[in-house]
Amino acid sequence: MARIEFLRHMTLVSLIVLILCTTASPIFASKNCDFPAIFNFGASNSDTGGLDAAFAALSLPYGETYFHRSTGRFSDGRIIIDFIAQSFGLPYLSPYLNSLGSNFTHGANFATGGSTIRIPNSIIPNGMFSPFSLGIQYIQFKEFISKIKFIRDQGGVFATLIPKEDYFFKALYTFDVGQNDLTAGFFGNVTIQQVKATVPDIINNFIENIKSIYNLGARSFWIHNTGPIGCLPVILANFPSAAKDSYGCAKQYNEVSQYFNLKLKEALAQLRGNHPLATITYVDIYSPKYSLFQNPKKYGFELPHVACCGFGGKYNYNIQARCGETININGSKKFVGSCKKPSTRVIWDGTHYTEAANKIVFDQISTGAFTDPPIPLNIACHRKFT
Ligand SMILES: *[C@@H]1O[C@H](CO)[C@@H](O)[C@H](O)[C@H]1NC(C)=O
Ligand SMILES: *[C@@H]1O[C@H](CO)[C@@H](O)[C@H](O)[C@H]1NC(C)=O
Ligand SMILES: *[C@@H]1O[C@H](CO)[C@@H](O)[C@H](O)[C@H]1NC(C)=O
Repeated sequence: MARIEFLRHMTLVSLIVLILCTTASPIFASKNCDFPAIFNFGASNSDTGGLDAAFAALSLPYGETYFHRSTGRFSDGRIIIDFIAQSFGLPYLSPYLNSLGSNFTHGANFATGGSTIRIPNSIIPNGMFSPFSLGIQYIQFKEFISKIKFIRDQGGVFATLIPKEDYFFKALYTFDVGQNDLTAGFFGNVTIQQVKATVPDIINNFIENIKSIYNLGARSFWIHNTGPIGCLPVILANFPSAAKDSYGCAKQYNEVSQYFNLKLKEALAQLRGNHPLATITYVDIYSPKYSLFQNPKKYGFELPHVACCGFGGKYNYNIQARCGETININGSKKFVGSCKKPSTRVIWDGTHYTEAANKIVFDQISTGAFTDPPIPLNIACHRKFT
């Protein structure tokens, strides 16, 4: 008897939920999110000029394709975060570290080239990595929020360059970080298995930072996994004896990326369960990037493993002859410049992708076909797609 009462009650509840869902409830309706701002955290794959503002600038041909000047982006043109901003009709993100001409009305970018999740041992300018690791980016974001309150109260010209108070709650929070933690391992004096063993700690650190950002009011998270690192010239040229898969990528190196991605996906699923007020979207960027090496012709590309801007060897890559530098070869000077048609290439400088490749990856991830849960970018503020 009690059981029947319970079932009847449940049916009524279900009916009410159904009515709410199909009428007005904004939580379930798959209405465009219209994010008013984006806050991005990460490394060179999403840096819009942060490292450049803090340290020495990149020079042309970086930026040659779209901006026609170097903006500090690690590409010939736009990067994925630019296409994300553009898709919401928002301006390109100003780097938090840029003190000149920045406009934070619609968000800020905390990413810097060379950033890691964990605190790095080797730091620029003497070492390889950015001092602005993810934990520091979180501290900067926290400072950003508190200083902005003060600026808003002061009014005047600076108050016109900052986000509205409610934007922090309504914004999209994007992440693209982790590849450098793996690179640090591969270039350290450890085995591939030892690098793999560090992945759970890297992921824990990642999750702790996401929670901290959530605690500051963030609710919509769009989190990229890491790309197929073993397909990049930086790995292929430096570890020439690495075993290759059928698409010419260094197999064991990619397996570490895949393991990172598996652990990240699991950890985000758990985080999602524990944070019912947040929308946490895991974005598989590995698959669309890898498909550029599997099937380059389909996308109009050639020589997928060969850097467009670089010098030397099978992969047109040498760590001593970086894109945009002038080098000495047998006593004569040579400028390390761009290939003829960057739009036909996947890899720009040995580590980063061309604008053409970034656009294709963006087009694929924004549909929701590579996200968990399968939610397109424009509705990534909703937990369910109805
Ligand atoms: C800052 O950006 C907003 C939004 O794009 C724009 O309306 C405003 O004019 C900009 N402010 C300045 C000083 O350029
Ligand atoms: C690398 O590791 C090996 C074994 O642990 C050690 O003998 C060697 O001194 C290390 N080399 C460097 C450069 O740290
Ligand atoms: C530099 O000179 C050496 C000896 O003549 C030659 O073998 C080598 O190919 C030259 N390097 C380049 C990059 O031209």
